[in-house]
Amino acid sequence: MQLWKGRFQKELSKTTNDFNSSISFDSRMYKEDIEGSIAHATMLGKCGIIKEEDSQEIVSGLKQILSDIESGALQIDMEAEDIHTFIEGELTKRLGDNGKRLHTSRSRNDQVALDIKLYLKKEVKKVKTMIEELVAVLCDKAEKYSDTVMPGYTHLQRAQPITFGHHILAYAEMFLRDISRLEDCYKRMDEMPLGSCALAGTTYPIDRSITASLLGFERITNNSLDGVSDRDYCIEFASVLSIVMVHLSRFSEEIIMWCSWEFKFVELDDAFSTGSSIMPQKKNPDIAELVRGKSGRVFGDTMTLLTVMKGIALAYNKDMQEDKEAIFDAVDTVKMCLTAFTPMIDTMKVLPQNMRKAAAGGFINATDCADYLTKKGVPFRDAYKATGEIVALCIEKGTTLEELPLEEYKKICDVFDEGLYAEISLEKCANERKVLGGPNSENVKAQAKRIRELLS
Ligand code: ARG
Repeated sequence: MQLWKGRFQKELSKTTNDFNSSISFDSRMYKEDIEGSIAHATMLGKCGIIKEEDSQEIVSGLKQILSDIESGALQIDMEAEDIHTFIEGELTKRLGDNGKRLHTSRSRNDQVALDIKLYLKKEVKKVKTMIEELVAVLCDKAEKYSDTVMPGYTHLQRAQPITFGHHILAYAEMFLRDISRLEDCYKRMDEMPLGSCALAGTTYPIDRSITASLLGFERITNNSLDGVSDRDYCIEFASVLSIVMVHLSRFSEEIIMWCSWEFKFVELDDAFSTGSSIMPQKKNPDIAELVRGKSGRVFGDTMTLLTVMKGIALAYNKDMQEDKEAIFDAVDTVKMCLTAFTPMIDTMKVLPQNMRKAAAGGFINATDCADYLTKKGVPFRDAYKATGEIVALCIEKGTTLEELPLEEYKKICDVFDEGLYAEISLEKCANERKVLGGPNSENVKAQAKRIRELLS
C-alpha cells in the first residue's frame, strides 16, 4: 500500500517495493510514530484545523492501534512501505475519512525526523544509565583494591608502581566523559522538527509549541529545511557511541592480557568465560574479545552515517533512509556490550599476589631510587645516570634494587645509605604518590567517593 498513488498508473514492482521499503527496520519506531501522530492530531484539533471531535476520534483510534500492536492483536505488515504508512493506513482502515485527515499539514519527512528523535532521546538515556552502572561497579572495585600494588606500564613495559584501584578509576574517568558527551548530545537532539512538513513548512495555522510540549521537547527547530534534512543527532550519537566503544575495547584488551598466564592478574567468572572444543585446559575471555571486536561495527556505523549525509543537497533525499539501520545497530551493539561487560567486571576475581609479583620485577622503583638521590641534593640527571648504572648491574647479577647490597650502591654513588631501602619499597613508592590524581590509596578512595557523588 502506498500513500502516493494518485499520479501513478501502474503498481510498484515487487523488487522495487522491497528495495524501497524500510519497514523491516523502522517498525521498531511504531510507538514513537503513534505518540507523534497523537500529538499532531491533538494540535490540529486545538488549532481548529480539523474538528475537535475528529481529532478525538483520531487520538483514540491511534491509542487502540498502539495497544493492539502491543498485545499482538495487530501484526505490522512487512509489505508496507514504512511504519508511517502502515499506521496511517491502519487508522484509515478503522476510521475511514477521519484516518485520512491525520496527515493534514504534515509530511513523512518531518514525521520520520520526529520519530527518530523521539526514539533516540530514550536510547541516549538508556545508554547513559548503563554506563553509570558500569562506573558504579568500577568504584566498588577501586575501593576494594585501593592499596593493591601493581606495575603501571608504558609501551607495555613495566614502568612505575601504581595501585589497581587507580588503574580501574582511569576507566571510570573515561566513562564519565562519555556520560557528559551523551548529555550534550541529548541537549542538541531535544529540538522538535514537526511542522517543517515536506521542506517549506505550511500555510495552515498550526501551533508547533503545542506539539513540542505534548512530546516533551525543550525547543523547536527554527528552519524547516534544516528540520527535515538534519541528521546531525544520529551522527553525533554514533560518534559518542564510537568513543564509548574505544574505551570498552581498550579495557577489554587489558582484561584479555590480564587473564593470560603471562599476567594472571585477574580471573573471569565461569559465567563470563568460554572453553575450547579441543583443549581441555582452556578458559577464554570471549566476552572481552567480542566487545573489542564489536567496536569495529560501531565505527563502521558512524562512517556510514557520515558518508550518507556528506553529499546530499537540501532538503530530504531518500539516501537518508539509510540513517536508521546504522544508528540502530550502533545503539544495539553498545547496549549489548554493556549488558555483558558490566557483570563481567563485577564478578571478575582480582589476584593481588600476582600483581605484586609482577611489580617486583622490571625495576619499576628505579625512578624512586633516582628521586631518593635527588632529594639528597644530587642533580636529577646525575641521579638518573647513577641509577641506570645500578639497574645494569642488577641485570648482570640477576638481582633487584631491593636486594642489591649497599656496598654495591656506594661503589656507583657514595650518597646512598641504609635509608634507601625504605624509600624504594614498592608499597611506599605507590603510596607516596599522593599528588592529586595519583595512585595513593587514600586518593583512590577519595576519587571513588567523588565519582559516586557525581553519579547520584
Ligand atoms: N521511510 C522513509 C525514511 O526513512 C520515510 C520518509 C519518506 N519520505 C519521502 N519523501 N519518501 O526516510
